[in-house]
Amino acid sequence: MIGSWCSGQKVRYSFINLSRKNDAGMETKIIKIDKPVNQAPALLAAGDIIRAGGLVAFPTETVYGLGANGLDAAACAAIYAAKGRPSDNPLILHVADRAMVDTIAAAVTPMAEKLLAAFCPGPITLILPKKPVVPERITGGLGTVGIRMPEDDIARALIRAAGVPIAAPSANISGRPSPTTAALVYRDMAGRIPLILDGGPCTFGVESTIVDCSGATAVILRPGAVTREMLEEVLGRVELDPALVGEGTTPRAPGMKYTHYAPKAPLTLLAGAPSMMASAFRREITKRQLLGHVVGVIVSEEVAAAIADLLPAELLAVYGRQADLPSIAAHLYEALRSFDLKPADCLLAEGTTEAGLGLAIMNRLHKASGFRTLSAKTGAFVK
Ligand code: TXA
Ligand code: MG
Repeated sequence: MIGSWCSGQKVRYSFINLSRKNDAGMETKIIKIDKPVNQAPALLAAGDIIRAGGLVAFPTETVYGLGANGLDAAACAAIYAAKGRPSDNPLILHVADRAMVDTIAAAVTPMAEKLLAAFCPGPITLILPKKPVVPERITGGLGTVGIRMPEDDIARALIRAAGVPIAAPSANISGRPSPTTAALVYRDMAGRIPLILDGGPCTFGVESTIVDCSGATAVILRPGAVTREMLEEVLGRVELDPALVGEGTTPRAPGMKYTHYAPKAPLTLLAGAPSMMASAFRREITKRQLLGHVVGVIVSEEVAAAIADLLPAELLAVYGRQADLPSIAAHLYEALRSFDLKPADCLLAEGTTEAGLGLAIMNRLHKASGFRTLSAKTGAFVK
């Protein structure tokens, strides 16, 4: 029951009739929301759940979020419990508009002001000094807070309906790839939350770019769809957190230190020029099969066509076209998750360029592989 996740205020949910039962007993309802967003009753009910201390999963243009009232420490504690998230990993707060930013940021630096004007609403999170109203519980004791204004209409309609900033990490079990469809949210969250708003597949497919705007220079803590190149056009020089390029330092976004985006079978990344990939995959698949492995691959359409004779179709996940980085980002997590239910005991994934959106794609692939990378050119381990 929804009511068991809420305290105090009674919520309206009787008209929500798209429900599913699950093993754990709690009913997790899925409501399809159409665009343009006009289902006021469903959104008001979801807003009521959030205001009453409950959890609602909702779509954004990046990945699905698991939302709670960001000003309510107890409600946010339920997010950590549902995800199995380490308690030192801070949550970001989602706002509907510029005015809401001022309710939670102690100061909006000139650099942040430029980024708000250029990219918000959009797939970017700004780290700024926090106001005391933001509970320490959600910032892991940091004096800063991550603020994101999503572009997705359903997300902003939900925030308006709730009337409070919504704390929302990605709606996956901690350590698993972020969900990009309501069905993938359901796979992880069934029985743990009362409601999922289904807005269809996410546009970008990788989480927002995180930019620390609290110091003198902007620093990218997590690459995303707002690329370093796009940020530099607006701000001039922008730094990359050294931890992103594997330099052995502790990442400044606490969540980036954990193994993330990992599929169940161990994954190895093949990195190199697109023209080398087909022969590198043929060599590596054959070698592993000779050793008795059941190999699964995550590759471009181009490579898939060149290796289709080597393995059954169900062990071949296509993530997009080599030259089309947005299509790869949009399908990457779904491709990783497609192996959850398949017999592969090892996975090989095709790397991309590290320029533009490729930086975000390669960051997620490096983390999914635990930095296990083979050179497509030599077949030797790179790191
Ligand atoms: O696209 C997104 O950002 C999605 C959607 C749902 O909005 N959300 C998301 O949240 O990816 P999450 O919790 O999965 O990732 C947020 C990251 C974590 O790595 C966390 O450690 C970092 O942001 N973070 C949060 N607050 C921070 C802060 N004050 N300083 C530095 N890093 C912070
Ligand atoms: Mg996450």
